[in-house]
Amino acid sequence: MLATTHISPKSQQYLQLEEEHGAHNYHPLPVVLDKGKGVHVWDVDGKQYFDFLSGYSAVNQGHCHPRIINVLVQQAQKLTLTSRAFHNNLLGEYAQYITAYFGYDKVLPMNTGVEAVETAIKLARRWGYEVKGIAEGAAKILVCENNFHGRTLNVISFSNDPSSQINYGPFMPGYETVAYNNIESLRTALKDPNVAGFLIEPIQGEAGVVVPDEGYLSEAATLCREANVLFIADEIQTGLGRTGMPLACDHEDVRADIVILGKALSGGTIPVSAVLADDEIMMLIKPGQHGSTYGGNPLACAVAIEALKVLKEEKMCENAIAQGDYFRAKLKALNSPYIKAVRGKGLFTAVVIGHDSLGDDAAMDLCLRMMENGLLAKPTHGDKIRFAPPLVITRKQIDECIDIIEESLGQFV
Ligand SMILES: Cc1ncc(COP(=O)(O)O)c(C=O)c1O
Repeated sequence: MLATTHISPKSQQYLQLEEEHGAHNYHPLPVVLDKGKGVHVWDVDGKQYFDFLSGYSAVNQGHCHPRIINVLVQQAQKLTLTSRAFHNNLLGEYAQYITAYFGYDKVLPMNTGVEAVETAIKLARRWGYEVKGIAEGAAKILVCENNFHGRTLNVISFSNDPSSQINYGPFMPGYETVAYNNIESLRTALKDPNVAGFLIEPIQGEAGVVVPDEGYLSEAATLCREANVLFIADEIQTGLGRTGMPLACDHEDVRADIVILGKALSGGTIPVSAVLADDEIMMLIKPGQHGSTYGGNPLACAVAIEALKVLKEEKMCENAIAQGDYFRAKLKALNSPYIKAVRGKGLFTAVVIGHDSLGDDAAMDLCLRMMENGLLAKPTHGDKIRFAPPLVITRKQIDECIDIIEESLGQFV
Protein backbone atom coordinates (compact mmCIF):
# COMPACT_ATOMS: atom_id res chain seq x y z
CA MET A 1 0.00 0.00 0.00
CA LEU A 2 1.25 3.49 -0.83
CA ALA A 3 2.41 5.80 1.95
CA THR A 4 -0.20 8.31 3.04
CA THR A 5 0.90 11.78 2.03
CA HIS A 6 0.00 15.02 3.64
CA ILE A 7 -1.56 17.37 1.10
CA SER A 8 -2.44 20.85 2.35
CA PRO A 9 -5.80 22.43 1.43
CA LYS A 10 -3.89 25.03 -0.60
CA SER A 11 -2.06 22.36 -2.63
CA GLN A 12 -5.30 20.44 -3.00
CA GLN A 13 -6.87 23.39 -4.80
CA TYR A 14 -4.10 23.38 -7.43
CA LEU A 15 -4.29 19.62 -7.86
CA GLN A 16 -8.02 19.87 -8.37
CA LEU A 17 -7.76 22.60 -10.99
CA GLU A 18 -5.33 20.49 -13.02
CA GLU A 19 -7.39 17.38 -12.54
CA GLU A 20 -10.56 19.07 -13.76
CA HIS A 21 -9.22 21.12 -16.65
CA GLY A 22 -5.94 19.57 -17.77
CA ALA A 23 -5.41 16.40 -19.78
CA HIS A 24 -4.37 13.44 -17.66
CA ASN A 25 -1.24 12.49 -19.63
CA TYR A 26 1.06 12.58 -16.58
CA HIS A 27 0.97 11.12 -13.09
CA PRO A 28 2.90 13.67 -10.98
CA LEU A 29 3.76 13.39 -7.31
CA PRO A 30 1.18 15.35 -5.29
CA VAL A 31 3.43 18.36 -4.69
CA VAL A 32 2.77 21.87 -6.05
CA LEU A 33 5.91 23.95 -6.53
CA ASP A 34 6.15 27.71 -6.89
CA LYS A 35 9.82 28.56 -6.37
CA GLY A 36 13.25 27.17 -7.20
CA LYS A 37 16.85 28.15 -6.52
CA GLY A 38 19.92 26.01 -7.12
CA VAL A 39 19.26 22.47 -5.91
CA HIS A 40 16.12 23.47 -4.03
CA VAL A 41 12.45 23.93 -4.86
CA TRP A 42 9.65 25.09 -2.58
CA ASP A 43 5.98 24.17 -2.53
CA VAL A 44 3.08 26.61 -2.24
CA ASP A 45 3.14 26.22 1.53
CA GLY A 46 6.81 27.19 1.71
CA LYS A 47 8.19 23.69 2.36
CA GLN A 48 11.69 23.18 0.92
CA TYR A 49 12.79 20.12 -1.07
CA PHE A 50 15.91 18.89 -2.81
CA ASP A 51 15.11 18.46 -6.50
CA PHE A 52 16.54 15.11 -7.61
CA LEU A 53 14.88 15.13 -11.02
CA SER A 54 16.05 18.54 -12.31
CA GLY A 55 13.23 18.73 -14.86
CA TYR A 56 14.43 15.43 -16.38
CA SER A 57 17.95 16.91 -16.51
CA ALA A 58 16.92 20.23 -18.04
CA VAL A 59 17.96 22.14 -14.92
CA ASN A 60 21.59 20.94 -14.77
CA GLN A 61 22.81 24.46 -13.95
CA GLY A 62 20.43 24.69 -10.97
CA HIS A 63 17.05 26.38 -10.70
CA CYS A 64 16.94 30.01 -11.79
CA HIS A 65 20.69 30.32 -12.25
CA PRO A 66 21.27 34.07 -11.79
CA ARG A 67 23.48 34.47 -14.87
CA ILE A 68 21.06 32.61 -17.15
CA ILE A 69 18.04 34.45 -15.76
CA ASN A 70 19.79 37.78 -16.16
CA VAL A 71 20.51 37.10 -19.85
CA LEU A 72 16.96 35.81 -20.34
CA VAL A 73 15.43 38.97 -18.86
CA GLN A 74 17.78 41.36 -20.68
CA GLN A 75 17.19 39.71 -24.06
CA ALA A 76 13.44 39.35 -23.47
CA GLN A 77 13.25 43.12 -23.12
CA LYS A 78 15.07 43.64 -26.41
CA LEU A 79 14.09 41.09 -29.07
CA THR A 80 12.55 37.64 -28.69
CA LEU A 81 11.53 36.35 -32.11
CA THR A 82 12.21 37.27 -35.70
CA SER A 83 11.44 33.91 -37.36
CA ARG A 84 13.99 32.73 -39.85
CA ALA A 85 12.43 34.89 -42.56
CA PHE A 86 14.90 37.54 -41.32
CA HIS A 87 18.29 37.36 -39.65
CA ASN A 88 18.81 38.21 -36.00
CA ASN A 89 22.02 39.46 -34.44
CA LEU A 90 22.50 36.46 -32.14
CA LEU A 91 22.04 33.35 -34.28
CA GLY A 92 25.48 33.63 -35.90
CA GLU A 93 27.20 34.23 -32.57
CA TYR A 94 25.37 31.28 -31.01
CA ALA A 95 26.16 29.01 -33.96
CA GLN A 96 29.82 29.96 -33.77
CA TYR A 97 29.89 29.42 -30.01
CA ILE A 98 28.15 26.03 -29.85
CA THR A 99 29.97 24.53 -32.85
CA ALA A 100 33.35 25.54 -31.40
CA TYR A 101 32.27 24.23 -27.96
CA PHE A 102 31.55 20.74 -29.31
CA GLY A 103 33.80 20.72 -32.38
CA TYR A 104 31.34 20.45 -35.29
CA ASP A 105 31.02 22.47 -38.50
CA LYS A 106 27.36 23.42 -38.16
CA VAL A 107 24.34 23.57 -35.84
CA LEU A 108 20.65 23.34 -36.72
CA PRO A 109 18.57 24.99 -33.99
CA MET A 110 15.19 23.62 -32.91
CA ASN A 111 13.08 23.89 -29.74
CA THR A 112 12.06 20.66 -28.04
CA GLY A 113 14.18 17.55 -27.80
CA VAL A 114 11.97 15.41 -29.98
CA GLU A 115 12.10 17.99 -32.78
CA ALA A 116 15.87 17.71 -32.75
CA VAL A 117 15.59 13.90 -32.89
CA GLU A 118 13.29 14.25 -35.91
CA THR A 119 15.81 16.60 -37.50
CA ALA A 120 18.67 14.14 -36.96
CA ILE A 121 16.65 11.33 -38.54
CA LYS A 122 15.81 13.51 -41.55
CA LEU A 123 19.50 14.34 -41.92
CA ALA A 124 20.52 10.69 -41.71
CA ARG A 125 17.94 9.58 -44.26
CA ARG A 126 18.94 12.36 -46.63
CA TRP A 127 22.61 11.45 -46.22
CA GLY A 128 21.66 7.81 -46.87
CA TYR A 129 20.08 8.72 -50.22
CA GLU A 130 22.34 11.49 -51.42
CA VAL A 131 25.75 10.37 -50.16
CA LYS A 132 25.57 6.66 -49.41
CA GLY A 133 23.40 5.94 -52.46
CA ILE A 134 20.53 4.02 -50.84
CA ALA A 135 17.58 3.52 -53.22
CA GLU A 136 14.74 6.01 -52.73
CA GLY A 137 12.43 5.10 -49.85
CA ALA A 138 14.59 2.21 -48.65
CA ALA A 139 16.67 3.92 -45.93
CA LYS A 140 16.64 2.33 -42.49
CA ILE A 141 17.59 3.72 -39.12
CA LEU A 142 18.73 1.32 -36.40
CA VAL A 143 17.42 2.06 -32.93
CA CYS A 144 17.88 0.37 -29.55
CA GLU A 145 15.52 -1.74 -27.54
CA ASN A 146 13.95 0.23 -24.64
CA ASN A 147 14.87 3.54 -26.24
CA PHE A 148 13.25 6.83 -25.35
CA HIS A 149 13.62 9.66 -27.85
CA GLY A 150 10.38 11.62 -27.35
CA ARG A 151 6.70 11.55 -28.18
CA THR A 152 5.99 12.42 -31.82
CA LEU A 153 4.25 9.79 -33.94
CA ASN A 154 7.42 9.11 -35.90
CA VAL A 155 9.57 8.73 -32.79
CA ILE A 156 7.09 6.50 -30.94
CA SER A 157 6.95 4.37 -34.09
CA PHE A 158 10.24 2.83 -32.98
CA SER A 159 9.49 2.61 -29.26
CA ASN A 160 8.90 -0.79 -27.72
CA ASP A 161 7.12 0.66 -24.70
CA PRO A 162 3.43 -0.29 -25.03
CA SER A 163 2.23 2.76 -23.09
CA SER A 164 3.90 5.04 -25.65
CA GLN A 165 2.33 3.26 -28.62
CA ILE A 166 -1.06 1.86 -27.72
CA ASN A 167 -3.80 2.92 -30.17
CA TYR A 168 -1.64 5.56 -31.84
CA GLY A 169 -0.93 3.55 -35.01
CA PRO A 170 -0.35 3.26 -37.92
CA PHE A 171 3.36 3.82 -37.39
CA MET A 172 6.20 5.03 -39.55
CA PRO A 173 8.27 2.32 -41.28
CA GLY A 174 12.03 2.40 -41.77
CA TYR A 175 13.31 1.44 -38.32
CA GLU A 176 14.93 -1.71 -37.03
CA THR A 177 15.57 -2.44 -33.37
CA VAL A 178 18.82 -3.87 -32.03
CA ALA A 179 19.52 -4.98 -28.47
CA TYR A 180 21.12 -2.22 -26.36
CA ASN A 181 24.66 -2.85 -25.19
CA ASN A 182 24.93 -5.83 -27.54
CA ILE A 183 27.65 -5.49 -30.14
CA GLU A 184 26.70 -8.68 -31.98
CA SER A 185 23.13 -7.53 -32.44
CA LEU A 186 24.43 -4.28 -33.96
CA ARG A 187 27.02 -6.06 -36.09
CA THR A 188 24.33 -8.26 -37.64
CA ALA A 189 21.96 -5.36 -38.32
CA LEU A 190 24.74 -3.32 -39.93
CA LYS A 191 25.10 -5.94 -42.68
CA ASP A 192 22.02 -4.45 -44.33
CA PRO A 193 23.33 -1.95 -46.95
CA ASN A 194 20.17 0.16 -46.56
CA VAL A 195 21.06 1.25 -43.06
CA ALA A 196 21.77 5.00 -42.98
CA GLY A 197 22.12 5.66 -39.26
CA PHE A 198 22.29 4.17 -35.77
CA LEU A 199 20.41 6.24 -33.17
CA ILE A 200 21.46 5.68 -29.57
CA GLU A 201 21.24 7.16 -26.08
CA PRO A 202 24.80 6.82 -24.68
CA ILE A 203 23.13 5.97 -21.36
CA GLN A 204 19.45 5.06 -21.50
CA GLY A 205 17.71 7.57 -19.23
CA GLU A 206 14.01 6.76 -19.21
CA ALA A 207 14.76 3.04 -19.23
CA GLY A 208 16.31 3.59 -15.78
CA VAL A 209 19.84 4.97 -16.28
CA VAL A 210 21.08 1.88 -18.10
CA VAL A 211 24.83 2.29 -18.54
CA PRO A 212 26.34 0.17 -21.34
CA ASP A 213 29.52 -1.82 -20.73
CA GLU A 214 32.76 0.09 -21.03
CA GLY A 215 33.95 -0.04 -24.61
CA TYR A 216 30.50 -0.63 -26.11
CA LEU A 217 30.02 2.89 -27.45
CA SER A 218 33.45 3.09 -29.01
CA GLU A 219 33.11 -0.33 -30.60
CA ALA A 220 29.64 0.55 -31.87
CA ALA A 221 30.99 3.78 -33.38
CA THR A 222 33.81 1.87 -35.08
CA LEU A 223 31.39 -0.70 -36.51
CA CYS A 224 29.20 2.10 -37.85
CA ARG A 225 32.17 3.80 -39.50
CA GLU A 226 33.23 0.51 -41.14
CA ALA A 227 29.69 -0.07 -42.41
CA ASN A 228 29.37 3.54 -43.67
CA VAL A 229 26.51 4.25 -41.26
CA LEU A 230 26.05 7.47 -39.28
CA PHE A 231 26.43 7.21 -35.51
CA ILE A 232 23.76 9.47 -34.02
CA ALA A 233 24.04 10.27 -30.31
CA ASP A 234 20.90 11.45 -28.53
CA GLU A 235 22.56 13.44 -25.74
CA ILE A 236 19.37 15.28 -24.78
CA GLN A 237 19.38 13.80 -21.27
CA THR A 238 22.99 12.59 -20.95
CA GLY A 239 24.72 15.65 -22.40
CA LEU A 240 25.71 19.01 -20.95
CA GLY A 241 27.56 17.75 -17.90
CA ARG A 242 25.00 15.34 -16.53
CA THR A 243 27.38 12.35 -16.65
CA GLY A 244 30.48 14.39 -15.80
CA MET A 245 31.50 15.23 -19.37
CA PRO A 246 30.15 17.77 -21.86
CA LEU A 247 28.78 14.74 -23.77
CA ALA A 248 28.40 11.21 -22.42
CA CYS A 249 30.13 9.94 -25.58
CA ASP A 250 33.25 11.81 -24.41
CA HIS A 251 33.80 9.13 -21.76
CA GLU A 252 34.84 6.80 -24.58
CA ASP A 253 36.31 9.42 -26.90
CA VAL A 254 33.51 8.76 -29.35
CA ARG A 255 32.81 11.55 -31.81
CA ALA A 256 29.29 10.99 -33.10
CA ASP A 257 28.46 11.98 -36.68
CA ILE A 258 25.33 13.69 -35.42
CA VAL A 259 24.81 14.97 -31.86
CA ILE A 260 21.37 15.85 -30.51
CA LEU A 261 21.06 18.28 -27.58
CA GLY A 262 18.11 19.78 -25.70
CA LYS A 263 16.92 20.19 -22.12
CA ALA A 264 19.83 21.88 -20.24
CA LEU A 265 20.79 23.88 -23.32
CA SER A 266 18.61 26.59 -21.80
CA GLY A 267 19.25 25.75 -18.14
CA GLY A 268 15.59 24.86 -17.73
CA THR A 269 14.18 28.19 -18.85
CA ILE A 270 12.74 27.83 -22.37
CA PRO A 271 12.69 24.96 -24.90
CA VAL A 272 15.97 25.03 -26.85
CA SER A 273 17.36 22.07 -28.78
CA ALA A 274 20.07 21.63 -31.36
CA VAL A 275 21.56 19.21 -33.86
CA LEU A 276 25.29 19.28 -34.52
CA ALA A 277 27.00 17.78 -37.57
CA ASP A 278 29.71 18.46 -40.09
CA ASP A 279 29.11 20.07 -43.49
CA GLU A 280 29.01 16.80 -45.42
CA ILE A 281 25.81 15.97 -43.54
CA MET A 282 24.33 19.30 -42.53
CA MET A 283 24.65 21.02 -45.91
CA LEU A 284 22.37 18.40 -47.48
CA ILE A 285 19.39 20.34 -46.14
CA LYS A 286 18.68 23.33 -48.36
CA PRO A 287 16.49 26.41 -47.78
CA GLY A 288 12.84 25.51 -47.39
CA GLN A 289 13.50 21.83 -46.70
CA HIS A 290 13.28 21.95 -42.88
CA GLY A 291 12.56 24.55 -40.24
CA SER A 292 10.69 25.83 -37.23
CA THR A 293 9.14 29.20 -36.38
CA TYR A 294 10.93 29.46 -33.04
CA GLY A 295 14.14 27.57 -33.92
CA GLY A 296 17.13 29.90 -33.60
CA ASN A 297 15.18 32.74 -32.02
CA PRO A 298 17.35 35.42 -30.40
CA LEU A 299 16.07 34.75 -26.89
CA ALA A 300 17.02 31.07 -27.20
CA CYS A 301 20.41 31.94 -28.70
CA ALA A 302 21.30 34.33 -25.88
CA VAL A 303 20.15 31.93 -23.19
CA ALA A 304 21.91 28.89 -24.73
CA ILE A 305 25.26 30.70 -24.95
CA GLU A 306 25.02 31.64 -21.27
CA ALA A 307 23.84 28.17 -20.23
CA LEU A 308 26.87 26.63 -21.97
CA LYS A 309 29.26 29.20 -20.48
CA VAL A 310 27.93 28.59 -16.97
CA LEU A 311 28.47 24.83 -17.30
CA LYS A 312 32.09 25.33 -18.25
CA GLU A 313 33.04 28.31 -16.09
CA GLU A 314 31.44 26.91 -12.95
CA LYS A 315 33.11 23.52 -13.51
CA MET A 316 29.87 21.57 -13.38
CA CYS A 317 31.29 18.50 -15.14
CA GLU A 318 33.99 18.21 -12.51
CA ASN A 319 31.43 18.59 -9.73
CA ALA A 320 29.19 15.96 -11.34
CA ILE A 321 32.03 13.44 -11.26
CA ALA A 322 33.10 14.25 -7.69
CA GLN A 323 29.61 14.30 -6.15
CA GLY A 324 28.21 11.51 -8.34
CA ASP A 325 30.86 8.98 -7.38
CA TYR A 326 30.50 9.97 -3.72
CA PHE A 327 26.69 9.75 -3.88
CA ARG A 328 26.69 6.25 -5.37
CA ALA A 329 29.30 5.05 -2.85
CA LYS A 330 27.12 6.38 -0.03
CA LEU A 331 23.98 4.77 -1.49
CA LYS A 332 25.74 1.41 -1.69
CA ALA A 333 27.07 1.83 1.85
CA LEU A 334 23.48 2.11 3.12
CA ASN A 335 23.32 -1.66 2.50
CA SER A 336 19.56 -1.43 2.34
CA PRO A 337 17.76 -4.70 1.71
CA TYR A 338 15.35 -2.66 -0.44
CA ILE A 339 17.98 -1.42 -2.90
CA LYS A 340 18.73 -4.16 -5.41
CA ALA A 341 21.14 -2.16 -7.57
CA VAL A 342 22.82 1.23 -7.79
CA ARG A 343 24.16 2.42 -11.15
CA GLY A 344 25.06 5.53 -13.07
CA LYS A 345 27.71 7.98 -14.13
CA GLY A 346 28.37 11.51 -12.93
CA LEU A 347 25.20 12.86 -11.34
CA PHE A 348 23.01 10.50 -13.37
CA THR A 349 22.11 7.67 -10.99
CA ALA A 350 19.35 5.12 -10.59
CA VAL A 351 18.52 2.64 -7.89
CA VAL A 352 16.45 -0.47 -8.47
CA ILE A 353 14.00 -0.96 -5.62
CA GLY A 354 12.56 -4.24 -4.58
CA HIS A 355 12.03 -6.77 -1.89
CA ASP A 356 9.65 -9.69 -1.62
CA SER A 357 7.86 -8.00 1.26
CA LEU A 358 7.09 -4.93 -0.89
CA GLY A 359 4.51 -4.74 -3.65
CA ASP A 360 4.87 -3.45 -7.22
CA ASP A 361 4.44 0.10 -5.93
CA ALA A 362 7.62 0.03 -3.82
CA ALA A 363 9.50 2.65 -5.89
CA MET A 364 6.50 5.01 -5.89
CA ASP A 365 6.04 4.39 -2.18
CA LEU A 366 9.66 5.34 -1.48
CA CYS A 367 9.31 8.48 -3.63
CA LEU A 368 6.27 9.54 -1.60
CA ARG A 369 8.17 8.97 1.65
CA MET A 370 11.17 10.93 0.34
CA MET A 371 8.82 13.72 -0.68
CA GLU A 372 7.42 13.88 2.83
CA ASN A 373 11.02 14.01 4.08
CA GLY A 374 12.09 16.77 1.68
CA LEU A 375 13.52 15.14 -1.46
CA LEU A 376 11.78 14.92 -4.85
CA ALA A 377 12.44 12.03 -7.25
CA LYS A 378 10.20 10.02 -9.51
CA PRO A 379 10.07 6.31 -10.40
CA THR A 380 10.81 5.34 -13.98
CA HIS A 381 9.69 2.04 -15.45
CA GLY A 382 8.16 0.71 -12.26
CA ASP A 383 10.92 -0.33 -9.93
CA LYS A 384 13.65 2.20 -10.71
CA ILE A 385 14.19 5.63 -9.19
CA ARG A 386 16.35 8.14 -11.03
CA PHE A 387 18.46 10.47 -8.90
CA ALA A 388 19.62 13.41 -11.00
CA PRO A 389 20.09 16.56 -8.90
CA PRO A 390 21.31 19.86 -10.38
CA LEU A 391 25.06 19.76 -11.01
CA VAL A 392 25.66 22.51 -8.43
CA ILE A 393 24.96 20.20 -5.50
CA THR A 394 27.61 20.24 -2.75
CA ARG A 395 29.14 17.43 -0.69
CA LYS A 396 27.30 18.64 2.40
CA GLN A 397 23.98 18.63 0.53
CA ILE A 398 24.65 15.11 -0.75
CA ASP A 399 25.17 14.02 2.86
CA GLU A 400 21.86 15.60 3.85
CA CYS A 401 20.13 13.82 0.95
CA ILE A 402 21.64 10.46 1.88
CA ASP A 403 20.19 10.98 5.37
CA ILE A 404 16.76 11.66 3.85
CA ILE A 405 16.97 8.57 1.63
CA GLU A 406 18.11 6.44 4.60
CA GLU A 407 15.31 7.75 6.79
CA SER A 408 12.74 7.07 4.04
CA LEU A 409 14.00 3.53 3.47
CA GLY A 410 13.75 3.01 7.22
CA GLN A 411 10.05 3.84 7.06
CA PHE A 412 9.28 0.80 4.88
CA VAL A 413 7.39 -1.69 7.01
C1 LIG B 1 17.09 10.89 -24.58
C2 LIG B 1 15.90 11.76 -24.84
N1 LIG B 1 15.59 12.09 -26.10
C3 LIG B 1 14.55 12.89 -26.38
C4 LIG B 1 13.73 13.38 -25.39
C5 LIG B 1 12.56 14.25 -25.75
O1 LIG B 1 12.76 15.56 -25.36
P1 LIG B 1 11.50 16.57 -25.28
O2 LIG B 1 10.63 16.08 -24.17
O3 LIG B 1 12.11 17.91 -25.02
O4 LIG B 1 10.82 16.50 -26.61
C6 LIG B 1 14.00 13.05 -24.07
C7 LIG B 1 13.13 13.53 -22.97
O5 LIG B 1 13.13 13.05 -21.88
C8 LIG B 1 15.11 12.22 -23.78
O6 LIG B 1 15.42 11.87 -22.53
